[in-house]
Amino acid sequence: MRSIIDILDLSVEEIDELVATAQDIIADPKKYAEVCHGKKLATLFFEPSTRTRLSFEAAMYELGGNVLGFSEAQSSSAAKGESVADTVKTVSCYADIIAMRHPKEGAPLVASRAASVPVINAGDGGHNHPTQTMADLLTISREKGTFENLTIGVCGDLKFGRTVHSLINAMSRYKGLKMVLISPEELKVPSYVKKDVLVKNNIPYVQTTDLEGAMSELDVLYMTRVQRERFFNEEDYLRLKDSYILTPDKLKNARKDMIIMHPLPRVNEISVAIDDDPRACYFKQVLNGKYMRMALIMKLLKEAGTI
Ligand code: NCD
Repeated sequence: MRSIIDILDLSVEEIDELVATAQDIIADPKKYAEVCHGKKLATLFFEPSTRTRLSFEAAMYELGGNVLGFSEAQSSSAAKGESVADTVKTVSCYADIIAMRHPKEGAPLVASRAASVPVINAGDGGHNHPTQTMADLLTISREKGTFENLTIGVCGDLKFGRTVHSLINAMSRYKGLKMVLISPEELKVPSYVKKDVLVKNNIPYVQTTDLEGAMSELDVLYMTRVQRERFFNEEDYLRLKDSYILTPDKLKNARKDMIIMHPLPRVNEISVAIDDDPRACYFKQVLNGKYMRMALIMKLLKEAGTI
């Protein structure tokens, strides 16, 4: 049974295929309106979410399927001490596919080994978030027309930001990538990501604390929220939370065709004054995420022989 736990579980060819399917859904949504008729997606969210859970649910409804699940650990038997493995063995009796978010790194992988239906990682702790990256990839493809020869700046909480880790992994497979890693000292990209992804693939990268200094060379600026829930103490969070706030004046040296991305939720990282800038793509990412999740659900259910 094929599950998607890491963005690298999908080959470059499969990413292209999913992007093409998403583009086809955008062009002709009616064609897909009954593809998952009678099938069920379970959303098991042990951690807060607005976009990811609702996006999965909207995706399944737009494919003609149904949705069940829970949106907080407290309302599930996890609160009684049930293991993730037992929970997904149970849910496998009710649903054809599972999307799971969990605060513990590796929980969706454990779930995929116990489940008898495909499991999609909808975010595991500070580790990975492959379907956010799929949303990001469709956005880059639609806005920049290519995944090659891009200079991508990621800014903010690069230590705990799982969307950043998955994005770096995904982009590492394309030619001509340059990464600019912009963060406070304490929130740098974990060394395992640097060593296993950037160094291993000979990807040129620079680490800096200076967002404005890096701005002029970027094709993509990917802002992130400081991940309060992963901090060990509130003082550190309060000290670091407003490290980067993108305001219109900071864009003065940015390229006219640079795109501004953010996985959302935004706290203070991007001033609302930027929302009307044509380069702002963060709400497009939200919409693109739904199309990519539709494409992924169809792919996994087809491979499982369910549809
Ligand atoms: C992200 C996440 O959950 O990691 N949100 C999302 O799914 N779009 C980013 C975040 O919470 O900061």
